[in-house]
Amino acid sequence: MSQTMQRGPVTGTAVKKTTSRRPFLLDLYGTAVGKKYVMAITGIIGILFIIGHMVGNLKAYIGLVEHKGEMVYDLDVYAEFLRELLVPILPHGYALWGLRLGLIAALVLHLHAAYSLTVINRRARPVRYQGARDYQIANFASRSMRWTGVLVVVFIAWHLADLTWGWLNPDFEYGAVYRNLDASLSRLPVALLYIAANIALGIHLFHGVWSLFQSMGWNNPRFNRWRRSVATGIATAVVVGNVSFPIMVLAGVIQHPAV
Ligand code: HEM
Repeated sequence: MSQTMQRGPVTGTAVKKTTSRRPFLLDLYGTAVGKKYVMAITGIIGILFIIGHMVGNLKAYIGLVEHKGEMVYDLDVYAEFLRELLVPILPHGYALWGLRLGLIAALVLHLHAAYSLTVINRRARPVRYQGARDYQIANFASRSMRWTGVLVVVFIAWHLADLTWGWLNPDFEYGAVYRNLDASLSRLPVALLYIAANIALGIHLFHGVWSLFQSMGWNNPRFNRWRRSVATGIATAVVVGNVSFPIMVLAGVIQHPAV
């Protein structure tokens, strides 16, 4: 046997491990397929939040309700319910913070996977396509994934500063969610910004839902038939629901007497 060849251990021989292996999930995340899984799973978490948030905000249309002997806005009762979630098992606000942390982790992972997949794709094709690309396949939504994604992230930052922290809303009052909604969206440029951002979100969601079927391996012909319908349905419901809020504030349907 030459000096460079090494004999492997005989079956059953105890071998001392000299190299530390990375955990399986980190190894998987190191591959393009793993990153696509992460994009899809964190995307599903985002979609569930966005649908839940939109449905919750529909409470703005219920207006005033009687609650603990007082007439209050149903949207404010709902916001308080979220802060009171799992009380007294957990202290006030803890469960909501748990959900927020999960959401932040999902967003960070979604952005990181998107960024590293872009780097992988650029490395695989350092020279740009010379001729016209096949825009039938790389359609409008897929080509716009990056800029709609960036717009949505900028919108989220702006939206938190507006309706959660109140920094961009001079009429902000902590806990008065219905009033804050009216105070914010009755400013025309802000209403237009919400409409534009939610249309960008709809385009992002349409293509996101469409591609997550592929990433998760749900591309059986049985799913393909209603893949487009699911993507269209989710994107349309979110855009119609969310765009209705600025329009209805401007129309005076959602109106707080103090604004
Ligand atoms: C017109 C559409 C929307 C309206 C009217 C709206 C309304 C609101 C309101 C009133 C709050 C404050 C709730 C509170 O303080 O209890 C809020 C928080 C929030 N919104 Fe929206 N939102 C809209 C769209 C979106 C979209 C599209 C996203 C994400 C892509 C989003 C993400 C968030 C997040 C992350 C929070 C913070 C939640 C928390 O920390 O409790 N919103 N939104």
